[in-house]
Amino acid sequence: MALLNILRYPDPRLHKVAKPVAAVDARIRELIGDMLETMYDAEGIGLAATQVDVHERVIVIDTSEKRDQPLVLINPELVWRSDARVLGEEGCLSVPQIYDKVERHAAVTVAALDRAGQRFEREVEGLTAVCVQHEMDHLVGKVFVEYLSPLKRDRVRAKMLKRAREEQQERQKV
Ligand code: NI
Repeated sequence: MALLNILRYPDPRLHKVAKPVAAVDARIRELIGDMLETMYDAEGIGLAATQVDVHERVIVIDTSEKRDQPLVLINPELVWRSDARVLGEEGCLSVPQIYDKVERHAAVTVAALDRAGQRFEREVEGLTAVCVQHEMDHLVGKVFVEYLSPLKRDRVRAKMLKRAREEQQERQKV
């Protein structure tokens, strides 16, 4: 397994639309292993393949306290969305240290393939439901900051670009 590089906003590759996985084979299982390792290492609760520059419909999530209940979603589709909505604070491994409120469906049912290529459906609520919707947005090239006002989004963009420049300068000093 290997740690993968996580793309940072506003990298244009975060806006690519992922293609469905054609076959759940050894390559995809290796990708899933690497994505899980990368997500746990970064202390995130979800990661979409788009964020590691692989543009196929694969998501890993773990919202459990002990970080031992990975949820793997290949070719996920929402088959039900609750009318009830929740406004919650979100963050993203591609937009580190930025948090803001986004409205989501309170519960959803997701249909997907698992690591064995078997189709399953899961109804999720709370943090897991928010996470599923957030990660599925990544697969269509959408980052959560795009729900914010243009003013806020511009501020996030400027902050991220400034930070990237500072990190670049730090690297050059060493
Ligand atoms: Ni994210």
